[in-house]
Amino acid sequence: MINWRPNVLLFFVVFWDLLIFVSSETDHHCLDYCNSKQINSGQDVIDLYCNHECKVEQCQWGCENYQVGPDSTCQHTCSQGWTAQGNITSKARSVQQEESQYCSDGCLKALQNYANQIRALLPPLPAPELKNGMKGHSWVVLLWNTQRLSNVTYYVQARMPDTAGPWEITTAAWLGGGAINVTNLRPFVTYKFQILLVITPTDFMSSNESVPIITEPYGAPSEAPKICEVSSPTSTVISISWKPPLYTNGQLLGYYLTLTTLTRENEAKKSTMREVAPDTSGWTFRQLKPGQTYQVNVSATNSVGKGPPGSVNITTAGPGDLSGEDVVFLVLAQDNKVVKQNTKLLPATDPDTVLTLNSSGTTVNGSTVLFQIAGDEVTGVALDIGKQLLYVSDSTNKIYTHGIGAQGQSRVIFPDLQNPSSLTVDWLRNILYVVNQNSNKS
Ligand SMILES: *[C@@H]1O[C@H](CO)[C@@H](O)[C@H](O)[C@H]1NC(C)=O
Ligand SMILES: *[C@@H]1O[C@H](CO)[C@@H](O)[C@H](O)[C@H]1NC(C)=O
Ligand SMILES: *[C@@H]1O[C@H](CO)[C@@H](O)[C@H](O)[C@H]1NC(C)=O
Ligand SMILES: *[C@@H]1O[C@H](CO)[C@@H](O)[C@H](O)[C@H]1NC(C)=O
Ligand SMILES: *[C@@H]1O[C@H](CO)[C@@H](O)[C@H](O)[C@H]1NC(C)=O
Ligand SMILES: *[C@@H]1O[C@H](CO)[C@@H](O)[C@H](O)[C@H]1NC(C)=O
Ligand SMILES: *[C@@H]1O[C@H](CO)[C@@H](O)[C@H](O)[C@H]1NC(C)=O
Ligand SMILES: *[C@@H]1O[C@H](CO)[C@@H](O)[C@H](O)[C@H]1NC(C)=O
Repeated sequence: MINWRPNVLLFFVVFWDLLIFVSSETDHHCLDYCNSKQINSGQDVIDLYCNHECKVEQCQWGCENYQVGPDSTCQHTCSQGWTAQGNITSKARSVQQEESQYCSDGCLKALQNYANQIRALLPPLPAPELKNGMKGHSWVVLLWNTQRLSNVTYYVQARMPDTAGPWEITTAAWLGGGAINVTNLRPFVTYKFQILLVITPTDFMSSNESVPIITEPYGAPSEAPKICEVSSPTSTVISISWKPPLYTNGQLLGYYLTLTTLTRENEAKKSTMREVAPDTSGWTFRQLKPGQTYQVNVSATNSVGKGPPGSVNITTAGPGDLSGEDVVFLVLAQDNKVVKQNTKLLPATDPDTVLTLNSSGTTVNGSTVLFQIAGDEVTGVALDIGKQLLYVSDSTNKIYTHGIGAQGQSRVIFPDLQNPSSLTVDWLRNILYVVNQNSNKS
């Protein structure tokens, strides 16, 4: 049924690889299938247009006319092929569709048998390997020394394991001797490769995947870092955070930050620059001017140079424009409560008196209780405005966090620390410092 016919001309001139040509005679299994009861069960008797013979005929036509190619499907073959036979052109469209169904049955059956034959002929499909370290910044040469069949289409697929991206078909040139030059790759990217075999439009197989292979570095980073957040928590401070770019094109050496004043035309621009380590993902500029717009740029750098900057504009709060939500407030501990005190509504007395207020029965305008512990005394308070979290230590050796947002929840984060007193949050590095009896924990 299957002729093994190595084609000498193609073997040497085109591929250099051993190609096996597969051809098949009419598929007898398929014809048997058409003659079987399966194809002819059901409503034969009442089908005026397509009786038993008609169905078998269509099915057989499908068996004989399946085509294997990336664009052909049985539906296409049967609607274009069988109906073009002239036998049924005068019939209604719906009847034609129904009839071509038997053709499709035969065609699919033949296609399936064909795919099974091909699968049985395929040798094991090992993973492609990097050939002798042959790679550049945009290409790698893979070795996949496996017999290829002429009736199977082979593609090289690549995937970036670091980004959990999908398998994608690459541009690949089969060089002979099992070598494949995969091109149009990105510099300094880790890839995995596999060979995809397309047997029929619906039948695929793939080889095992290669070990990770990294292309050579080339050029400066081609992408800007992604700026995630920029804020001006006070009128003299700007904080920025970013994520590294995906394509650094070489070992990331760090980030290059610039902070430039954006001014009217006649004023001189002032720039500050800073280089930070590659593991840095945030920076805080201090001692800035209130009410000033700044442009912050962040570029990734490698040994070749700087990439394009991620750029963002931000204006620090002016001393005069604190309004509404941005009102300055104090966070104070008072007995077993932590209160938020609006500074504009402070009693006209010396602010010191706020701290010594006696809780029993005293109400101060503009103060809200943020958090109240069950008993005893608050010994320390720290605030992370960015996360909207309050940290509270108390005289029963507990440390709590409490959300100060809309639906703040509190929980104990340290149930038993010896005499915790002062707390401080380093919100940039996400560390809480606790002073307790004997030591300084973080
Ligand atoms: C295999 O491919 C050749 C050339 O493309 C074609 O003539 C032949 O019909 C194919 N064999 C099968 C079984 O489809
Ligand atoms: C009808 O279909 C059969 C089977 O394909 C074919 O042999 C015959 O020539 C067709 N008749 C006409 C009129 O085209
Ligand atoms: C593919 O990988 C599996 C699991 O690692 C291994 O068992 C199998 O032998 C490999 N196949 C080939 C053809 O290398
Ligand atoms: C692979 O292809 C690239 C791009 O065409 C080319 O620059 C490179 O030299 C080729 N490598 C080999 C080993 O042929
Ligand atoms: C910051 O980036 C913007 C946008 O790319 C650019 O126009 C500007 O010149 C950069 N500023 C500095 C100081 O590099
Ligand atoms: C920042 O401001 C400058 C000057 O007004 C403007 O050209 C630029 O487009 C702004 N950048 C962003 C990201 O809004
Ligand atoms: C608080 O007030 C109560 C009663 O008003 C008084 O007995 C107590 O001494 C006061 N404590 C302080 C620290 O002022
Ligand atoms: C609190 O505010 C109200 C109205 O805003 C005012 O009448 C009252 O005198 C204030 N009390 C104190 C103690 O400042």
